[in-house]
Amino acid sequence: MCGIVAYIGQRQAYPVILKGLKRLEYRGYDSAGVAILNNGLRVYKKKGKVAELEDWLTGMDMHGHAGIGHTRWATHGEPNDRNAHPHTSGDQQLAIVHNGIIENYAQLKKELVKQGHQFNGETDTEVLIHFIEEIKKQNQCTTEEAVRIALKRVVGAYVIVILDAGHPDTLIAARKGSPLVIGIGKGEHFLASDASPIVEYTKEVVFVNDYEMAIIKADELILKNSSNEVQTPYIQKLDIELAAIEKGGFDHFMLKEIFEQPQTIFDSLRGRLDAGQGSVILGGLREYTGVFKEAQRIMIVACGTSWHAGLVAEYMIEDLTRIPVEVEYASEFRYRNPVVNEGDIIIAISQSGETADTLVAMESAKEKGAVIFGICNVVGSSISRTSHAGVFTHAGPEIGVASTKAFTAQLAVLCLMALKIGYEKDSIERKRYLQLLHELELVPEKVEEALKLNDRIKEIAEKYKDARDFLYLGRGYNFPVALEGALKLKEISYIHAEGYPAAEMKHGPIALVDESLPVVFIATRDAYYEKILSNIQEVKARKGKVIAVVTQGDKNIPPLADDIIEVPEADELIAPMINVIPLQLLAYHVGVLKGYDVDKPRNLAKSVTVE
Ligand code: G6P
Repeated sequence: MCGIVAYIGQRQAYPVILKGLKRLEYRGYDSAGVAILNNGLRVYKKKGKVAELEDWLTGMDMHGHAGIGHTRWATHGEPNDRNAHPHTSGDQQLAIVHNGIIENYAQLKKELVKQGHQFNGETDTEVLIHFIEEIKKQNQCTTEEAVRIALKRVVGAYVIVILDAGHPDTLIAARKGSPLVIGIGKGEHFLASDASPIVEYTKEVVFVNDYEMAIIKADELILKNSSNEVQTPYIQKLDIELAAIEKGGFDHFMLKEIFEQPQTIFDSLRGRLDAGQGSVILGGLREYTGVFKEAQRIMIVACGTSWHAGLVAEYMIEDLTRIPVEVEYASEFRYRNPVVNEGDIIIAISQSGETADTLVAMESAKEKGAVIFGICNVVGSSISRTSHAGVFTHAGPEIGVASTKAFTAQLAVLCLMALKIGYEKDSIERKRYLQLLHELELVPEKVEEALKLNDRIKEIAEKYKDARDFLYLGRGYNFPVALEGALKLKEISYIHAEGYPAAEMKHGPIALVDESLPVVFIATRDAYYEKILSNIQEVKARKGKVIAVVTQGDKNIPPLADDIIEVPEADELIAPMINVIPLQLLAYHVGVLKGYDVDKPRNLAKSVTVE
């Protein structure tokens, strides 16, 4: 949600910032802008994607060794040139880029208007830079001091980076709640919302902590806490390669990431699962096995696709460990005054590790004495750092806005966890434990096989791409898969799609069924197979179009279905990781055939850092 890039050093800042903004564009793409110090402050910003900004600036003098850039996902004020970042102070001496929300901006604005400030747009960010300017004027202090004072009065979440025309050798940055990474080069520094714009220049990074400010020159990085005490930066080495954040010959990141899944699932299991030895090693769980064994209940909090992974995990964990599990949208959990007891376990699932709702949900549960366990993809992310313990999914950077490989990696890790706890708790028989370990080891191979369906699914997409609505139905472990399939389709193709438990169809959605409605059944062989067969018949009897995901060799469903997608056989607990593949591909192809930008679907953002 909004991407920030900044640079100070010997290079030309603009090309570094532009390239970085393109890498961060998955975070927001309704407008983009840059500010460069080049004989004073120059600010260029424009509605639309980064490429539009680039076209506009081609041929202009963009020289300068310090600059800030921003790609926006609108919160306050519609996406237009005026509301795009960077924003400037009234005297045009300061420019700011901001990710997050200043909740008390209306109050601050009122005060500033009384003091004579005029605003160009409607954003909270413009208010913040005017506020800093006002403090500077009133206190006759430095920009750094003014920022510190201002942030004490600001309510909300932010990462900001400020460029000061009076101090062209310094950038000032601060964070609370939104992520900021500083890359350390030789006589240069790179700042960004995540590591992807930095990785090609340096692997040495500092993740700025909440309530910290950074004062950055080309060859100096000073970190201070909110009491103005200097902190020692903790320099970490990035373990991502440039190739991981490029398209590598695929038309879209989404397709690349779908096709990476055999490898990413393998990576999420690597070094952790040894089916031959019957062993599961999860470093993050080691000291907490006892806590899980004793737990009275587990609550899973997450958003979006990660919430769907949580639903599958509920089935797995209850099945294998007999610990009661509740799964909640983080946003609901946070605000409904939930009962959380000392010793309860919260599992927070998040690809980015930055989703604001998930973060605040886990923070509030932590205050009530819960043990927080994080399942994250991004190392160094806020959620991973706020957790007491956790497991990384190791799926590599996910750039496509619609989550794909992160989902299957989450399922693989959650399955490992459930197996480990269940086995330690003696609530699963050794024979079943070993069988599931073995099946888990085979998932990458089976996903590889499922990916061979790509051409067939493209044909199906062609056939149904003009449908107005889609229904996705599944039972048991395949119910969350149906939800995820529907979410993928609506995100990418803008077709209305709903996921439902197949049996629940009779209580509402069946009213929608007619010859124009495609109904996707996830109907692989499991404990509910006979039941879902009846549901397919019910749809057929009402002339609905049935697209069925079935186990290879199924003889019963093909005569009833209009289109069949055959996936490799797997235990029902493992099957979601395989069954979701054709649904990801279906959404992808429908979106592409309809001519949409599947990597950057409208209105969505990859990392939702506002509540
Ligand atoms: C956004 C993304 C989704 C993602 C959700 C949760 O809505 O577009 O793909 O599932 O956030 O994100 P998280 O990073 O917490 O998994």
